[in-house]
Amino acid sequence: MDVLDALKGKYLGGIAGAGDEAALEEIRLAALGKKGEISLKMRELGQMAPEARQAAGAALNALKDEIDTALRARKAGLADAALDERLKAEWLDVTMPGRPRRQGTIHPVSQVTEEVTAIFADMGFSVAEGPQIESDWYNFDALNIPPEHPARQEHDTFFMAREAGDNRPPHVLRTHTSPVQIRSMQTHGAPLRVIAPGRVYRMDMDQTHAPMFHQIEGLAIDRDISMANLKWVLEEFCRAFFEVDHVELRFRASHFPFTEPSAEVDIRYSNVGGALKIGEGDKWMEILGSGMVHPKVLAAAGVNPDEWQGFAFGLGIDRIAMLKYGIPDLRAFFESDLRWLRHYGFASLDMPTVAGGLSR
Ligand code: DAH
Repeated sequence: MDVLDALKGKYLGGIAGAGDEAALEEIRLAALGKKGEISLKMRELGQMAPEARQAAGAALNALKDEIDTALRARKAGLADAALDERLKAEWLDVTMPGRPRRQGTIHPVSQVTEEVTAIFADMGFSVAEGPQIESDWYNFDALNIPPEHPARQEHDTFFMAREAGDNRPPHVLRTHTSPVQIRSMQTHGAPLRVIAPGRVYRMDMDQTHAPMFHQIEGLAIDRDISMANLKWVLEEFCRAFFEVDHVELRFRASHFPFTEPSAEVDIRYSNVGGALKIGEGDKWMEILGSGMVHPKVLAAAGVNPDEWQGFAFGLGIDRIAMLKYGIPDLRAFFESDLRWLRHYGFASLDMPTVAGGLSR
């Protein structure tokens, strides 16, 4: 009995004094492990006389349980203490006011793209996308611009390199969003109403031109669509987009290989001391090209021109962003100057909607 009392005192004392789980585990092994002191004592029972064995066995088992219970209790206590410690260290006052950092803003190009998309969505147009690296068939041929056509030179195209010996025509960085017309008609057929916003590329750089800029293509195909529909849609769009009651558009006869007839559209504005105003004044800015889709374009995209017709337009996003938000130089759009972005950027959670207001 004395021996057991001594063991009990030794282990329970050790457990009470253990500072962490590793120390506890060491004690557990020394007492209850395969070669632990208690386990060895258990084995000695075999050599005892039956009565002595019974009494000693019961006492040993009781001691074993006691040590085991003490180990578990101490382990739980240590875990609680560790959690308390962490809670104290990682405490956070969630009632403190937030600290707005006001760093990120929505770029005017993204903002305007969202605004334009919201307006056309309201008129029943869905959004289509196409690749920025485009085959020359989609970018030119399918749009009725054959290889020898002078329009190819006017596009200042970036060509992608082919491997030496590969004589197929090179892919291009798309020079306009018009190839998405072809892809949309191929995928969905007619009738169809889509807009396609995105990046386009041309080798050009000055105050109003950048080598990468943004367009929104529009396409409406049905059985009896006319220029009158085109005119109404564009006027309605401009009124909604510029958030003014009065806009004045000028349709100028023009030429594009993929439309017949074709028109370029200018919008009236004034510029008084750098402040631009839409719908008044004596200046005109060209904002888009448009027209009735050429029958050859419909045919190239697998739509029967004897059954279907429609209008298309290509709108310069950067141009109308400059006009609406009074931004004088196009190049600044792409310079990532933080001061410019903070000045012209938009709050990130204000999604433009036609009903809720576009730019407020
Ligand atoms: N793709 C033309 C360009 O980038 C713009 C354009 C003109 C698009 C007339 C059209 C259109 O859809 O009908 O200059």
